[in-house]
Amino acid sequence: MTYPQVRPRRLRRNAAARRLVTETRLSPAELVLPLFVREGLSEPRAVPSLPGVVQHSRDSLRKAATEAVAAGVGGLMLFGVPQRRDAVGSPGTDPHGVLNVAIADVVAEVGDATVVMSDLCLDEFTDHGHCGVLAGDGTVDNDATLLRYEEMALAQATAGAHMLGLSGMMDGQVGAVRRALDATGHADVAILAYAAKYASACYGPFRDAVEATLQGDRKTYQQDPANAREALREVALDVAEGADVVMVKPALPYLDVVAAVAGAVDVPVAAYQVSGEYAMVEAAAANGWLDREAMMLETLTAIRRAGAQIVLTYWATEAARHLR
Ligand code: PBG
Repeated sequence: MTYPQVRPRRLRRNAAARRLVTETRLSPAELVLPLFVREGLSEPRAVPSLPGVVQHSRDSLRKAATEAVAAGVGGLMLFGVPQRRDAVGSPGTDPHGVLNVAIADVVAEVGDATVVMSDLCLDEFTDHGHCGVLAGDGTVDNDATLLRYEEMALAQATAGAHMLGLSGMMDGQVGAVRRALDATGHADVAILAYAAKYASACYGPFRDAVEATLQGDRKTYQQDPANAREALREVALDVAEGADVVMVKPALPYLDVVAAVAGAVDVPVAAYQVSGEYAMVEAAAANGWLDREAMMLETLTAIRRAGAQIVLTYWATEAARHLR
C-alpha cells in the first residue's frame, strides 16, 4: 500500500497555514479609488448602474477623500462632470472648471496623505463626447488633441495634482505631456499612462456616471480586445516617452495582458477594475447569486496575482477597511 508523501493539502489545513504560504497579499496602500465630482450639485447623486457610487458635490467629495485616506487607500483618481461642454472641451482647461477645482479641494483636504490623481482626457468635457478634438471630417485629430492635453496637464498640475492619468489613447500623449510639465516647472508631477486601454463594453456604467454624450464608439483610438501583443507595443512607447506607471484597462477580462505587461517592463503596473466589472458583481450579488464580499476580495486578489501592483477599484475604501 503506497500513500502519497507529497501532500500540498498540509499547507491548507487551517487558516494559519494558508496565511503563512499565501503568495498574494492585498493591502490598502495599493488600492486607488476613482471619484466623480459633478458641477452644480449640492448633494451627492446616486449612479443607478454603479450601486454604491455617487456623483459627488464639492463637499461630499472632500468627505469621501478623507474617508478613503482614513482607510489607508493609496490613491484617489478624480473625474469631473461639467454642466456645459463644447467642441474643444474648454471646461477641462479652465482653472475654474469642475475637475481643476476638485483637485485643489482634495489636495487642500488630504495634502500628501495619499496620491491625488486626475483623469486627463477630453471626453467628459467635449459636447461630442470623444476623447479628443475633431478634424473637419469628424475623425479624432491626434496632434491637435495633444495640444489640448498639454494645456489640461498644466491646469491640473497647477491645481496641485500629484499624478496625471492620461486616458485618451492618443499617440504621443505621454511624451507631449511630459515635455509640457517639465517646461513649466512641474517636473515632479508623475504620469500614470493608460497604456493598454481597450475599446471595451465594460465602460457602460462609467459613461452613465460622467453623463457621456458619445454617439458611436472609440475604436479608432482604444485597442481592439482581440490584441495582446499590441499592448506590449503601446506600453513600450509610453515607457520610452516617460510614463512613471503604466496601466492596463479593463482588468479581469485582460489578466493575460496584465501578466505580459508586468513581465515586460520595470515601471509599476496598474490595472483598472472598471465600472462594468464592478457592476456585474454588484448586480449578481443584489440578486443573491454571488457572495459580494468574497467576489470583491477574489477579483482584487486575482488582479494582483496577475502582476498588477496597483489596482483602481470602486471598492477601494470598503476593501481597504476589510484589509486593515
Ligand atoms: C475615458 C475613460 C473611460 C473610463 C475612464 N476614463 C472609458 C471610456 O469612456 O472610454 C472607464 C472607467 C470605467 O469604466 O470605470 N477617458
